[in-house]
Amino acid sequence: MNALHPLTSQQDSALTLRTRIARAFGRSASSYDNHAGLQRQVADSLLAMLPAHEHATQVLDLGCGTGYCSARLRQRFPESVVVALDLALPMLTVANRQLNFDGAAATPVRMLCADAQALPLKSNSMDLLFSSLALQWCNEPATAFAEINRVLKPGAVALLSTLGPATLQELREAWAAVDANRHSNEFLPAAQLQQAAEAAGLKMQLTTKISVRYYDSLLALAHELKGLGANVVAHDKAEAMTTPSAFKAAAAAFARGRQSDGIPVHWEIFSLFLRKKTGINPA
Ligand SMILES: C[S@@+](CC[C@H](N)C(=O)[O-])C[C@H]1O[C@@H](n2cnc3c(N)ncnc32)[C@H](O)[C@@H]1O
Repeated sequence: MNALHPLTSQQDSALTLRTRIARAFGRSASSYDNHAGLQRQVADSLLAMLPAHEHATQVLDLGCGTGYCSARLRQRFPESVVVALDLALPMLTVANRQLNFDGAAATPVRMLCADAQALPLKSNSMDLLFSSLALQWCNEPATAFAEINRVLKPGAVALLSTLGPATLQELREAWAAVDANRHSNEFLPAAQLQQAAEAAGLKMQLTTKISVRYYDSLLALAHELKGLGANVVAHDKAEAMTTPSAFKAAAAAFARGRQSDGIPVHWEIFSLFLRKKTGINPA
């Protein structure tokens, strides 16, 4: 921190949140793949949206996690340089082991530990940007879109998936019956994402899909979120302790939704197809 320009409390809490997110994903790097059923489905659908004739020599996988999408991007664009970028270094360690393990790949995937909201990449350098389920972790989506627009070449494409507001609504409802604290993140509506992307100079098409997954209990859902590293909640007030009795009450409220397949939980998946406008070259 620069003593002459101390961080404002807003900047400070954004940094703290980023550190908490990086730590949670870092801690889950070795368990992530065991819990990533939904993440795989979402990634595969997004990969299927890659334009058939898209040519790319520089490809960025933003928020690559353990490298599932980076591997497929390298297969799809064997001649290109694929950069796998993530905020959590342990995720990159796992990705590097899985992608570049024998050193035999003609083109190793390059690893880059960085924040999607401050990309250490040249302007107008990427032919394709791919990002599955990382955008919802950016507390400044407008900045993330501005960075995406900056690093894309004019006319180049970005494909992103992220979560919509209906995601985890059952979890929020269960906790709302117990206390007024925030126990799950809120996700931005499509219109707000659209506005942020357009303001950054990107043309955007958004499609929505609801996926319903069934859980045995609130504990099973909490276990999955923790195994993924997706258990950080952005608080606007001091973090509240969750007591065992509060958790028990929330679990009982959650279980009231039980159906024959288990307790349903909604995941709202947004797929974003973005194109940088030609003729705009931010430095
Ligand atoms: C749910 S995982 C998705 C990983 C991978 N794309 C996949 O589909 O399996 C989200 C990833 O985004 C990373 N992430 C979160 N915030 C980020 C940020 N601000 N910049 C870069 N990566 C970030 C996390 O560390 C994590 O690896």
